[in-house]
Amino acid sequence: MQTVRAVAGWNTVRVEVESSGHTIGFVPTMGALHAGHTSLVERCLAENDKTVVSIFVNPTQFNDPKDLEKYPRSVDVDSRRLEELGVDYLFLPDRVTVYPDDYRYRLTETDLSTRLCGAHRPGHFEGVLTVVMRLFNIIRPHRAYFGEKDYQQYRLIEDMVTAFLMDVEIRSCPIVRDADGVAVSSRNALLSADGRKLAAEFASILKNGDSALAVRNSLEDRGIHLDYVEDWLGRRLAAVFIDEVRLIDNVEIESEK
Ligand code: PAF
Repeated sequence: MQTVRAVAGWNTVRVEVESSGHTIGFVPTMGALHAGHTSLVERCLAENDKTVVSIFVNPTQFNDPKDLEKYPRSVDVDSRRLEELGVDYLFLPDRVTVYPDDYRYRLTETDLSTRLCGAHRPGHFEGVLTVVMRLFNIIRPHRAYFGEKDYQQYRLIEDMVTAFLMDVEIRSCPIVRDADGVAVSSRNALLSADGRKLAAEFASILKNGDSALAVRNSLEDRGIHLDYVEDWLGRRLAAVFIDEVRLIDNVEIESEK
C-alpha cells in the first residue's frame, strides 16, 4: 500500500492509474477503523481495480470541540489493517491540504441538512459535505462508498453529487452490527460496560418498536437520553446519548408498521 499525503503526489498516481484504464474506488474515513469500514473497503476492493482510503479527522464537522478532542485516533493500526485488506493507496492529508482557504469556502444544503442530526448538530453537515466534495475533487474516484449507519449523511452526499453534476457514483453499504445488535461505531469504544448494555437495548428497541412514538416511549422508560427518533424515507432513524456519547442508528421500516 502506498501512502500519499499531498495533492501533487496523488495527481501523479492518478495519471498512472487512469492511463492503465483502471477504475478507482474511494472510501473516505476519519480513521479508528472498525468492521463497518472493513465492509466498505471489501466492497470497494471487489468492485474496482484500485482502492484508495482516506483518513482525515475532519475538524469542521465537529460542532462540539470536546467531541473532536475525544475522537479516537489510531493511524498506525489503521494503516496496517488497510494494508492487510489489500488497499492500494492510503490518502493521509493534513488540514492545510484539505483546507488551503482555512474553511472560508463551504458547501451549504438548506433543507435536509437542517433536520434529524442536522437540527441537533449545527454546522455538522456543512462540514461533512464540504470535506467530501474537497476529497472527491482531489481523488477524482469513479465510485465512492458510504455506510448506511450514517443514513442522512449518505443521502445528503448522494444529493450533492446530483446537484453539482459530479462524475462519481455513490454506493451505500448496510449497517454492520456486533453480536449484541449494536451498530459498530468508533464511538462504542467510549462506552462503559453498563453503557454498552444500554446501547444493545437501544438497538433492540429501535428494531422492534411498532412506531417512532413507541420507540421514544420505550427508550425514555429505560432512562435513555433521547436526541430524536423519526421516520424518514422508509427508515426509522434515532440518536441517543449514553454515557454522554452520542449514538445513532436506523432500521428499515416494514410496510405494515
Ligand atoms: O462518515 C465519516 O466517517 C465522515 O463523515 C466522512 C464521510 C469521512 C467525512 O469526514
